[in-house]
Amino acid sequence: MSLKLQIIICSTRPGRVGPAVANWFHGFAQSQGLFDCELVDLADFQLPVYDEPNHPRMQKYEHDHTKAWSRSVAKADAYIFVLPEYNFCPPPSFTNALDYVYSEWNYKPAGFVSYGGVSGGLRSAQLAKQWVTAVKMMPMFEGVTVQMPWTLIGEDGRFQANEHHEDSGEALLKELLKWAEAMKPMRSR
Ligand SMILES: Cc1cc2nc3c(=O)[nH]c(=O)nc-3n(C[C@H](O)[C@H](O)[C@H](O)COP(=O)(O)O)c2cc1C
Repeated sequence: MSLKLQIIICSTRPGRVGPAVANWFHGFAQSQGLFDCELVDLADFQLPVYDEPNHPRMQKYEHDHTKAWSRSVAKADAYIFVLPEYNFCPPPSFTNALDYVYSEWNYKPAGFVSYGGVSGGLRSAQLAKQWVTAVKMMPMFEGVTVQMPWTLIGEDGRFQANEHHEDSGEALLKELLKWAEAMKPMRSR
């Protein structure tokens, strides 16, 4: 049975380009056939700024939004974060969503499809790599960087990937699978 990959849309703002990039990557990942892929939209969970009274390590969640987020995160064996860059950083929606749960992330690999202006979201992805290690995820060396994705979205709303995006996406998925397979036994100990 295939391992489960969640592709998470991290931007939650109205008018965001994140879903166009994530829809492309979801279709691309499905075409590679390495994982059972699911698209997850952070906006659907409507997470407020962290509002649980207990440390997430205890999993004593009080709010329905946290319980729904916990169930979603727990399902996956690996993650791709489709991550914009806000003020040279990951957006607060991403760091907030990371904080909400803990064990659900542990011992799973994380990859980044980052985007922004000329940086392609690289500064955001570099910081996010350090951030995910605090919840015991393993960040991938490989990554996809997309410069100015809004110039690559057609009238049909679809993101038009180029060869660079596809080549780096292929390398990222292959590496993610290696880590996902290696880390799965760590979660049963
Ligand atoms: C608050 C804010 C800060 C931003 N800061 C950066 C930045 O530091 N670097 C960058 O490349 N783009 C920056 N941008 C531009 C974003 O890359 C662009 O708006 C992108 O579409 C954001 O992703 P989203 O539409 O999916 O939310 C910023 C956008 C916002 C809204």
